[in-house]
Amino acid sequence: MGKTGVDPQERKALVRARIEHSGTLPTLPQVIARIVEMVDDERTTARQLGAEIAKDQVVSAKVLKLVNSGFYGFSQTISTIPHAVAMLGFDTVKSLVLSSGVLEMMDNALPGLWDHSLACARACTFIAEEADLEAPEEVSVIGLLHDLGKVILSQTLVDDFARIRQRAERGAMLLVQSELDVLGCHHGEIGAWLLSKWALPAKLTLPIADHHDFRPNRDHAQRTAAVHLADVLVRAEGFGSGGDRRIPQLAAATLDTLGFDLERVERIMNRLHADLGELSRA
Ligand SMILES: [Fe+2]
Ligand SMILES: [Fe+2]
Repeated sequence: MGKTGVDPQERKALVRARIEHSGTLPTLPQVIARIVEMVDDERTTARQLGAEIAKDQVVSAKVLKLVNSGFYGFSQTISTIPHAVAMLGFDTVKSLVLSSGVLEMMDNALPGLWDHSLACARACTFIAEEADLEAPEEVSVIGLLHDLGKVILSQTLVDDFARIRQRAERGAMLLVQSELDVLGCHHGEIGAWLLSKWALPAKLTLPIADHHDFRPNRDHAQRTAAVHLADVLVRAEGFGSGGDRRIPQLAAATLDTLGFDLERVERIMNRLHADLGELSRA
């Protein structure tokens, strides 16, 4: 039992039900639902997928803008969806397609969240490369989407979110701590709910769910360690804003899980600086 006398799992289920019944939860347009189906079918080719996405000019323009916005660091412009699928893989393009609408709302939810998310995406790429993780572009999309739960909270539980922000500000505490106090769950879990509702795989949703609660023995621990480390580094450097003034503490075992020593972390910091010098600092 939690301090409110309600079972913690029940408390979470209640928050989830409130979010789902708020009527303001982002939904998937028809064209995107069709794309999800196609991506889940192994026989779908990049060309077929590209043709389907291209039918929706708005979605394809948004996805190409994201792909070319600099956080993937491609030297050439990617001008078609099939090209994006070939470069980034199905799951990454699917994640970008699905979240293209929500990503636009980031700065409305919290000023600076967009820059924070872009910086995390970039940091995740560097960490994935340095740790030799599989599919660095998927790790990057995890970085881009890791704080999506904050956007969902700002859209669906408006009053609670205002209270959460106020408490964090007054008590000089992390937003995640204030969320746990007020709701009994945090934006990592909430973001992962929405992404699993959209049928994104656990290899993308679990690291997002656990980015403030890293445990080395859970599934996809290396990816979770990557996004957790990226968040801490980006906040320590003040790229964009995560919505509070504190820097989360790096969980023990993060560096071990990635096989990093401090020298390696410094190299990642240097790469980040060289890459993100232009980004606004908090
Ligand atoms: Fe977070
Ligand atoms: Fe974050």
